[in-house]
Amino acid sequence: MQEANRLKRLPLYLFTIIDELKDAAQKKGVDIIDLGMGNPDQPTAKHIVDELCRKAAIKENHRYSRSIDESEKKLREAIAKWYHTKFGVTLDPRSEILPLIGSKEGIAHLSLAFLNNEDIALVPNPAYPVHFNGVLIAGGILHNIPIYEKDGYLPNLKSVPKRITDKAKLLFLSYPHNPTTAVANTKFFEDVVDWARGKNIIIGHDLAYSDIVFDNYKAPSIFQIKGAKETCIEFHTCSKSYNMAGWRMGFAVGNRDILKVLMKTKSYIDFGIFKPIQYAAIKALLGPQGCVKKTVAIYKKRRDTLVKGLREIGWNVPMPKATFYLWARIPDKYSALTSMEFVSLLIRETGVVIAPGTGFGEYGEGYVRFALVEDTARIKEAVKRIKRILEMET
Ligand SMILES: Cc1ncc(COP(=O)(O)O)c(C=O)c1O
Repeated sequence: MQEANRLKRLPLYLFTIIDELKDAAQKKGVDIIDLGMGNPDQPTAKHIVDELCRKAAIKENHRYSRSIDESEKKLREAIAKWYHTKFGVTLDPRSEILPLIGSKEGIAHLSLAFLNNEDIALVPNPAYPVHFNGVLIAGGILHNIPIYEKDGYLPNLKSVPKRITDKAKLLFLSYPHNPTTAVANTKFFEDVVDWARGKNIIIGHDLAYSDIVFDNYKAPSIFQIKGAKETCIEFHTCSKSYNMAGWRMGFAVGNRDILKVLMKTKSYIDFGIFKPIQYAAIKALLGPQGCVKKTVAIYKKRRDTLVKGLREIGWNVPMPKATFYLWARIPDKYSALTSMEFVSLLIRETGVVIAPGTGFGEYGEGYVRFALVEDTARIKEAVKRIKRILEMET
């Protein structure tokens, strides 16, 4: 059996490799502290789960969900309200909002919806993998825009040659940024919208971490910039803000023509979101937001514990302003190793699992990513074990 060529173009999924390393360590009896995958560990709030259960008991909700159904109408209205409250942006629920089975699904389908074989997609590198893998699956041409620590991991769009922008149909952005934790201000988005004017390039801004922000930083929506609706859509998710990662509930908002094509693509592939999940998402978006605050406070405590701990053992890591990650240069002592080699060593010797920078693209080399998805006691234990590695004779 030969898989399709489009699958052969994909790099091996990062967490498949990590899982194999983890498995091997576990088999040797190593206690694993898993800071690898960005998989939220906190439970979904009770009022959201209760709504799911209530709605799951109604037999009408077991049928296929269709966009004309009451549940989706109400969900779109809830998203519009949430957006207005959060960003002061007005959206038409019918044409400027599209519910998704998780934002990852929508991001992958955006490439499928728009890219022909000779079309280019511009993707900052490193990036959340579906930004570039979606392009490869769709058969488009991937143009990486390297992003660097010295530039705050913001892309220099003006450096992209005209012969490339002329053929580019898509640009992916995502701030707060996974994996680097970089953030952007409204001036950056103003410049992006300005750059895009007259270019016929669709901008997909992935705002998965809009709520996971610290120290008074507020993540802007691209739609706070005048003119953004002409060419942009923005992706959101309930996975991070409301700890609903397994529920698969996201949405895209913005330019109605882009969303129409995305919706058309999806209509041939999926049947929408399970209705009880849609009702539960309405409760999440419009209900009490204390659960979001509580989640952010937990991540902040973990962030502070990890940053302080690593700095104390001589690993000088930055303090992230957003996301639940820490992005750090490989310690000097191990700088001759690739990020994958360093991560393998760490798993083998300490049982601490983190993600290699190259899992997010070649420009992630030299860095690793910690996900703050274990409690502070386990994070302290991880630091203790990493200290051993830093002190080890090599
Ligand atoms: C930047 C970014 N976008 C999207 C996603 C996926 O979110 P969802 O669960 O909505 O598919 C993630 C998950 O880690 C992410 O980090």
